[in-house]
Amino acid sequence: MTGTILRGRVLTFLDEPQGINDEACYRYYEDGAVFIADGKIVSVGDYNKANIAGATVIDHHPNLILPGLIDAHVHFPQMQVVGSYAAALLEWLYTYTFVEEQKFADPEHSARIASLFFDELIRNGTTSAAAYCSVHPQSVDAFFGEAEKRNMLMIAGKVMMDRNAPEALLDTAQSSYDDSRQLLAKWHGRGRALYAITPRFALTSTPEQMEAAQALMREYPDCYVQTHLSESMAEIEYAHELYPNAADYTSIYERYQLLGPKTLFGHCIHLSHREVEALVESRSVAVFCPTSNLFLGSGLFDHDRLHARGTRIAVATDVGGGSSHSMLRTLDEGYKVMQLREQRLNPLRSFYMMTLGNARALSLEGTIGSLVPGAAADLVVLDARATPAMSLRMETVSNLAQELFLLQSCGDDRSVSEVYVAGHAAKSAVGMTN
Ligand code: GUN
Ligand code: ZN
Repeated sequence: MTGTILRGRVLTFLDEPQGINDEACYRYYEDGAVFIADGKIVSVGDYNKANIAGATVIDHHPNLILPGLIDAHVHFPQMQVVGSYAAALLEWLYTYTFVEEQKFADPEHSARIASLFFDELIRNGTTSAAAYCSVHPQSVDAFFGEAEKRNMLMIAGKVMMDRNAPEALLDTAQSSYDDSRQLLAKWHGRGRALYAITPRFALTSTPEQMEAAQALMREYPDCYVQTHLSESMAEIEYAHELYPNAADYTSIYERYQLLGPKTLFGHCIHLSHREVEALVESRSVAVFCPTSNLFLGSGLFDHDRLHARGTRIAVATDVGGGSSHSMLRTLDEGYKVMQLREQRLNPLRSFYMMTLGNARALSLEGTIGSLVPGAAADLVVLDARATPAMSLRMETVSNLAQELFLLQSCGDDRSVSEVYVAGHAAKSAVGMTN
C-alpha cells in the first residue's frame, strides 16, 4: 500500500487521565509507526509490526509524535496586539484591540495577517483552532481562504458587535445577521472549514443583535457559537448595567438560547454556582485561557471546581490577550494558575487537554486530537532536547511523564520539530511561504 509511515515515539490519548500514573488513558509506542495515506491515519502501532512495503518511512526518533495541538480560542486579528501595556481587559480592548481590528477592513491587510497567523500556528504545532475574525466579512474570507490553502481544520466566524466600540468597528443587528448568514453559507462545511456564530460578548451586542445570533443558531444548529463570559469584574458589572433584568452574566446568553454543546465560552473565571450549573446542564464549554488571564490580571480560572461539576473544559491561547501561540507555553501557565489555587495539573492531563481534550470540547473526537484510523493525519513532532538547557535536563529525565512535563515547562516553538497537516509536512515548509 502506498503512503507514508511516520516512525518515532508515538503517543496518543484514549481518555482523560485520572492521575499521573494512569497508564490506561494513553497508548505509547517506543518504536511506533503512524501509517498515513490520502491525508488520513490508516493505522497506528509498533513499527516492527507495520507493513512497510511500498511506503515512504520518515524516522523522527528520538522525538515524540503526537496528534496536532488544538487552540480552542484565539483572535487572528490580534497578532499585533500581543504584549500591549494595559491595566485590565477593558482598557486593553479600547486602547489597543479595537484600534488594531479596524485595519481588517482592508482585505490586503487581512490576507497578510491570515498568512502570518497560520505560519505561527504551524511553527507552534497547532493544527486546528477556534478563531475570532474581526467584524469585517473580508477578514473571514481571508482567514478561511488561507486555511483552505493549507488544508487546515479551522472553526471561525465574523465577530458580531453593534455597540460600545468605535464606529468603524460596528455592524448592526441586521447586517451582522446578513453577513454571518452569507459567510456561513459560503464556508461552513467547505473542505475543513466550520463556522462559529460569534457575538463578541454581551457588552458589544444589543439585545437585537443577540436575537440575530439566536436566529442564526436556530437556522444552523450544527454551527458553533463562541463568545466571552465572565472574564473580569469590571466586565461583569458593565454587563449587568446593559442587561439590568438579567440575574447573572450567563443568563444574558441563556435568554437568547445561545448555550449548548457547541457553545464555547472564553474565560469563565468568576461564575456563580448557578452559572456553572447552567453550563453543565447545557453541555456548554468553558475555555481556560491562562496566559491571557494572567497577562490582563483577569483572575484565576477555577479548573477543579468546574471539572468536579462535570463542566466541559477546553484550553486556549487567547492571543492577543494571551501572549503566546504556543500550547506548551499556555499549559505551563495553566499549571501555574492551578498551583496558585492549590490544584494539580499533571503533565498527562496537560497533553490530553491540548489534544483529545480540546477535540472533545469542540465535538471533533475521531476527526482530530487523537491518532486513530480514519482521523485526519494532523500531527506534531516534539523534541524535548530542542535547547541546550532542555537537552541537559533530559539527561536526568527517566520516564514519559517527566519528559512531557519538561516539554511543557521549558518548551515552545523550538520544541516543535515537524508538523503534518492532512499528511503533509508543514513546518519545514513555513519559512518558504513568507
Ligand atoms: N472580551 C471581548 N472581546 C475580547 C477580546 O478580544 N479578548 C479578550 N481577552 N476578551 C474579550
Ligand atoms: Zn478572547
